[in-house]
Amino acid sequence: MRRFRPYLSYLRRVRGTLIGALLAGLLYGAATGAGLPLMIKQVFPRIFSAEATDLTLTQLILIAAWLPIIFLIRGVAGYLNSYLIQLAGVRVLEAMRFDYFRRLQLLPLAFIQRQTSGDLISRGIADTNQLQFSLTSIANDGIKQPATLLGAVGFLTWTAFNEQGVALVLVCLALIPLCAFPIRYVGKKLMARATQIQAQLGSVTDRFAENLSAAREVRAFGLEDRQTERFAAESGRLIFFQMKAAKYAQMLTPALEVISALGLAITFVYSYRANVPLESFLAIFTALYASYDPVKKLGALNNEVKRGTSALERLEHVFKAPLEITDPANPVELKCRLRGEMRFNQVSFAYQTGQPVLHKVDIAIPAGTVCALVGPSGAGKSTFAHLVPRFYDVTGGAVTVDGIDVRSLRLADLRANIAVVSQDPVLFNDTIYNNLLIGRLDASREEVLAAARAAHADEFIRQFPQGYDTIVGERGALVSGGQKQRIALARAFLRNAPILILDEATSALDSQSEQMIQDALQHLVVGKTVFIIAHRFSTIRDASLILVFEQGRIAASGTHADLHGTNALYRRLYDNQHALGG
Ligand SMILES: Nc1ncnc2c1ncn2[C@@H]1O[C@H](COP(=O)(O)OP(=O)(O)OP(=O)(O)O)[C@@H](O)[C@H]1O
Ligand SMILES: [Mg+2]
Repeated sequence: MRRFRPYLSYLRRVRGTLIGALLAGLLYGAATGAGLPLMIKQVFPRIFSAEATDLTLTQLILIAAWLPIIFLIRGVAGYLNSYLIQLAGVRVLEAMRFDYFRRLQLLPLAFIQRQTSGDLISRGIADTNQLQFSLTSIANDGIKQPATLLGAVGFLTWTAFNEQGVALVLVCLALIPLCAFPIRYVGKKLMARATQIQAQLGSVTDRFAENLSAAREVRAFGLEDRQTERFAAESGRLIFFQMKAAKYAQMLTPALEVISALGLAITFVYSYRANVPLESFLAIFTALYASYDPVKKLGALNNEVKRGTSALERLEHVFKAPLEITDPANPVELKCRLRGEMRFNQVSFAYQTGQPVLHKVDIAIPAGTVCALVGPSGAGKSTFAHLVPRFYDVTGGAVTVDGIDVRSLRLADLRANIAVVSQDPVLFNDTIYNNLLIGRLDASREEVLAAARAAHADEFIRQFPQGYDTIVGERGALVSGGQKQRIALARAFLRNAPILILDEATSALDSQSEQMIQDALQHLVVGKTVFIIAHRFSTIRDASLILVFEQGRIAASGTHADLHGTNALYRRLYDNQHALGG
């Protein structure tokens, strides 16, 4: 139970509802465990004994009314109990799912990239669902069943002490502890299986997600059959695990029933020999049954606890993952916008420990510099740029802006001063206007349109029948690559931040559009520190500082004129492209 202590806060929020459910559950238990046997004991002798023949109709009805009254109480209490528990369950589910989603926003990019989106979705949907189901089952039967057991055992004890000759009936209860063995056995088996099932559910969801995001590749490479087979294999594995769990889970009820039948059989034998009268026998029989039934249900409940625990473990994979990239304890307060003077001080970085991607990179970039990063693919250009907004934290050295370590600033303050157009920009499935607006949420319509014009996006947007209200589709699937890039550029312009990172931001554009954007950039970048990563040298020739990356190091830096004269790698990259007509 200590295992669940960190989550008690979720229950605290629904305390009132749970107390209501508890009271209703107690009433239900009393009505079932003690009420029913008591009723049989009251009703039977009055109707079937010798004096019973003298009953008037009113008396008869009053006696018979016991039956519906007890069931009414039991029914209303049971209903209230179930409803309130359901209510508490969905509230807890909602809160947990909210926290899970929130956590995914705060976790470092590196963590998200290590997971598959299908699995993360499955944890957020299927595992929270399983947890809610387990919680409601626990709350449902966790109150009702012990209460019923208590009521029935109470009645039996009371009968045993009040009626002569039936004291030994308590012996029949002695079999109850036997039930613990199958319950524990099945529970242990089920825990391992439940974890397998939930993980497999993640893999199946992942097959879906990956397949849908690669819909084009599937068709282009004729992978339809291969994908279907792979899906069938994952799906088959899920069924296999589910059946393994079912094998154990379904074992429990019959095992417990056999044990309880044994208890009832002993009662038969004993009652016959002790000459127990019929009405007492029926009452005892009902009470006994009423005490074995909760044991059976508590056994099934134990299975549910195991399933819930395994779901919780999967959620904890996200809940307990360290946030790593967070606000510092005592952030440096920014009085105004950053100027954008950057320094990389002996910066090293590795995505995986032991495999450095940047080696002691050391460079100073004055504020307002247009700085171009060039070099072969995989040399570390994007990685270098991603250290500025702290998408990742350096593993050695420091990145400073205006002389302040980026780790000393609040993340929100730092990132508010940076605009990024990434190598493969993603648009939200929303209107073009709203996609532009995320650049700066408080921008006016005029500012949004001005940014779109600067990125040469306005022309094509206006040609859509819905104009700025055009929906771009998932990840921007309904617009062309070049259009998507221009929207991404426009929202970066709108941000109007002192530091601008353009990672292959114009790679999808034809040379004419690119030239137009270059011209626009000339005005937009005045006074800003700009990192431009581009393979096309037309884009970078005019940069005031060019950094040549080679295998995670800055091999050379300077202007085009400097580098073309002195650096062999730069000259090779440049001349190759010109030979190709780039
Ligand atoms: N998220 C990641 N996890 C692990 N390794 C990565 C990750 N991103 C990049 N790498 C590796 O880091 C190295 C540098 O990658 P980076 O993206 O910085 O190269 P780049 O210079 O931008 O290349 P390109 O011109 O092709 O975009 C590469 O070897 C790459 O495989
Ligand atoms: Mg790159």
